[in-house]
Amino acid sequence: MENAGTDAAIVVEKLERTYPGGLKAVDGVDLIVASGEIYGFLGPNGAGKSTTVRILTTLLRPTGGHATVAGYDVVSEASQVRRSIGVALQEAALDPLMTGRELLQLQGALHGLRRPESKTRASELLERVDLVAASDRLLNTYSGGMRRRLDLAMALVHRPSVLFLDEPTTGLDPVSRASLWRELESLNDEGTTIFLTTQYLEEAEQLADRVGIIDHGRIVAEGTPQELGRLVGEPGLYVKLIDETQTDRAREALAEHGAVSDREAGGLTIRTALGARAIAPIVRSLDEAQIEVDAVEVEEPTLDDVFLAVTGHRAEDDAVDEG
Ligand SMILES: Nc1ncnc2c1ncn2[C@@H]1O[C@H](COP(=O)(O)OP(=O)(O)OP(=O)(O)O)[C@@H](O)[C@H]1O
Ligand SMILES: [Mg+2]
Repeated sequence: MENAGTDAAIVVEKLERTYPGGLKAVDGVDLIVASGEIYGFLGPNGAGKSTTVRILTTLLRPTGGHATVAGYDVVSEASQVRRSIGVALQEAALDPLMTGRELLQLQGALHGLRRPESKTRASELLERVDLVAASDRLLNTYSGGMRRRLDLAMALVHRPSVLFLDEPTTGLDPVSRASLWRELESLNDEGTTIFLTTQYLEEAEQLADRVGIIDHGRIVAEGTPQELGRLVGEPGLYVKLIDETQTDRAREALAEHGAVSDREAGGLTIRTALGARAIAPIVRSLDEAQIEVDAVEVEEPTLDDVFLAVTGHRAEDDAVDEG
């Protein structure tokens, strides 16, 4: 199959996967990821993210359509694809009775590295993902964040040009999440193309150059994080008052800053294109009107908000009976 883009790392055309029983988990997905890009594949539970990743990483055959990764067809050139990619799957099972270092060396051996090479590579990667101190401990003593970092190191052993990560930060605390993000950014700076799935709009926003939103096996929106954010409309600022009897006066005082709506007694939302930059002027207006403020917060749009804007329904409303 020909490569559609001149410098595309991933080309997906009309991809389909019907599971036995008839469920179409992937239903005609088209996408192109440029070499060197970070592509965020965003969607709720059951949207078809893992199924797509499993097809692109040659672990599952498509029932329709085509895909190439690093220029190779995922079905007819699966072994070349496997040599070009690194994969960290959602349900990675690590042997709890091995150490991080042993597992990395084993991974090196599986990729054909000789013993001294695989030792050196393991040490480099342990350093890279900040696991040197824990490297000789058994995996059953690792935290969730440490496991995800080891998953990443395992995926990097053979220096892949394209990296697939299925929900790499699900379940991690904010600090571990941020440290993984930094690691992925630095890999990307070195030229690695990254395809990552996530349920967090915030993660896609932080990391991805472009984002595709998948719902019921179809891409329902695609664009830069800024473009997707704009689909939700102007950012909201939430203003909480100390004294809720001042709500009416606050509504008047805030009208000059944007469209004001009530959220609860003593709580208002203001939509303004300025976003966080409107906080200082808002506080000043309230101050001048002698209204006491408890808090002003930016209301970040969630995946659910974008979802609603694009599909007209909330991601949780997906309890569709497929029968
Ligand atoms: N082996 C399978 N056999 C039958 N149906 C499956 C199989 N694997 C997944 N599915 C179904 O296919 C749909 C897509 O699943 P998939 O795992 O790709 O979703 P996902 O977007 O990765 O979800 P999550 O965020 O929960 O990981 C779901 O309805 C799921 O139940
Ligand atoms: Mg999944």
